[in-house]
Amino acid sequence: MRLTYTSDLWYKNAVIYCLDVETYKDGNGDGVGDFRGLTQQIDYLHSLGITCLWLMPFFPTPNKDDGYDITDFYSIDPRLGTLGDFVEFMRTAKDRGIRVIADLVVNHTSDQHPWFKESRSSKDSPLRDWYVWSDKPEPDDPSQIVFPDKENSIWQLDKKTGQYYLHSFYRHQPDLNVANPEVRDEIARVLGFWMELGLSGFRVDAVPFLIENVGDKLPDPHAFLADLRAFMSRREGGAVLLGEVNMPYKDLVSYFGDGNGDQLTMCFDFIGMQRAWLAFARSEAGPISQTLGDRPKPPKDCQWATFLRNHDELTLDKLTDEERQEVFDAFGPDKDMQIYGRGLRRRLPAMFGGDLRRIKMAYSLLFSMPGTPVIFYGEEIGMGDNLDEEGRMAVRTPMQWSQSGGFSDAPPVRGIPGGSFAPERVNVADQKRDPDSLLRWFQLLIERYRECPELAWGDNTVLETGHPSVFAHRCDADGATVVAVHNLSDIAAEIDLALEGLDGCVLTDLLADETMEVADGTVRLPMSPHGCRWLRAAPRGDMPPEDASIIAH
Ligand code: GLC
Repeated sequence: MRLTYTSDLWYKNAVIYCLDVETYKDGNGDGVGDFRGLTQQIDYLHSLGITCLWLMPFFPTPNKDDGYDITDFYSIDPRLGTLGDFVEFMRTAKDRGIRVIADLVVNHTSDQHPWFKESRSSKDSPLRDWYVWSDKPEPDDPSQIVFPDKENSIWQLDKKTGQYYLHSFYRHQPDLNVANPEVRDEIARVLGFWMELGLSGFRVDAVPFLIENVGDKLPDPHAFLADLRAFMSRREGGAVLLGEVNMPYKDLVSYFGDGNGDQLTMCFDFIGMQRAWLAFARSEAGPISQTLGDRPKPPKDCQWATFLRNHDELTLDKLTDEERQEVFDAFGPDKDMQIYGRGLRRRLPAMFGGDLRRIKMAYSLLFSMPGTPVIFYGEEIGMGDNLDEEGRMAVRTPMQWSQSGGFSDAPPVRGIPGGSFAPERVNVADQKRDPDSLLRWFQLLIERYRECPELAWGDNTVLETGHPSVFAHRCDADGATVVAVHNLSDIAAEIDLALEGLDGCVLTDLLADETMEVADGTVRLPMSPHGCRWLRAAPRGDMPPEDASIIAH
């Protein structure tokens, strides 16, 4: 791959790691994670190999939605530190070559934000139009209600002025009115502020809500996204907007800016994620092949962000009712594991019953998919969830650093998982010492992913395996090829793969010490239960000497 591509378009094959400063590491002993604690752990993140950190909201907040309810976009939640601590953290991350992006939550503010307090004070307030007010809102469509456990409308009557305000999420999160040019300027100012402090971009929260709730008041809502992207690119060419857009592929492409690619630089692949879970539930490759078949190629210089779990519920809203039920039956049969009627509030390792082979296969599959993988903190050590915590907080428990927890000397901000996922059994310190641990394997996976830019950049072809549980695809770029094969079932299989154009090549398994030769255009591959292989093809003469000698024997 040409360096002018891979280094300039760094995000195309980045490894993004999402964390919440509040639950990562407590540096001052008060039980709440903070920037000082996080800064101490940068070397851990560096040795893991991640290239970009995504920080969940760290701004002042009444914390009714875990920080997604902001009262000041230009400051730091005092529980997490100061702007000085933030700058020290940014400097340390930069020193270790780690980029940082942050949540940009501008669909709404907290109802405690001074802007909203001013806006609601009177119909004549100069900030009245910064939010969306209505005398008589349209009746609610139940599909618009994101948190049906807490809300039954997206409009809330404000008694003082007798008008209703729009809140796409909780009633304490009034929607900003981006139809107002002053609001759009202020949002750009927020971006500019944090970029000045070194951010490489933003994970844009709730994008469809942000631009669509303005109805016909903004003639072209997508033009707002394009303006924001242009503003950001003028300030810093390599900065990215990574959008949360959970929509069918056909509607989603417009968020990249259709063919132009001038809006969101990256979009999360929610559809691919949901189909992957269906594939895991069925132990069948079909839904994954379907994703690669249906998923549009992102416009030039844009990219998909792939993931299996994030900080929210594992949403299954785009599956059919029957498909969703299959995933519930397999991974979250108890009502308490389910949430909002559409998702699961569990972490992946717990859903796989701690089965290491299956956990590794799932992440190997994720990293081999075309796109940029995004992992949630703790996945690299196989952390479980704590269902005693309320709602989505079940998966947002403190990072487990050592047998005693190691997150804080004080009682932690959130309850730690027990049983087989307790820190005594799942922690960083033990796994660092164990060459066979999940953590060590993640390091290898990330290293290999970075060595195989074909996976993220290349042309992808799904290969026929003749076996319903085995998924295989090849990625070709600049004359180089990587073939990835994954067995979704717990039964061993043997497959024959036809590899066009690779006759006589040697395949090196990058996740294990093994090589094999393509003869008559095919290769026979034994696949262990939940086995995964990444095979780099090379003409025999190009083999490094030590590998060539293995073949000679
Ligand atoms: C996004 C976030 C979620 C938050 C919501 C409201 O969906 O991922 O955690 O509750 O927006 O800001």
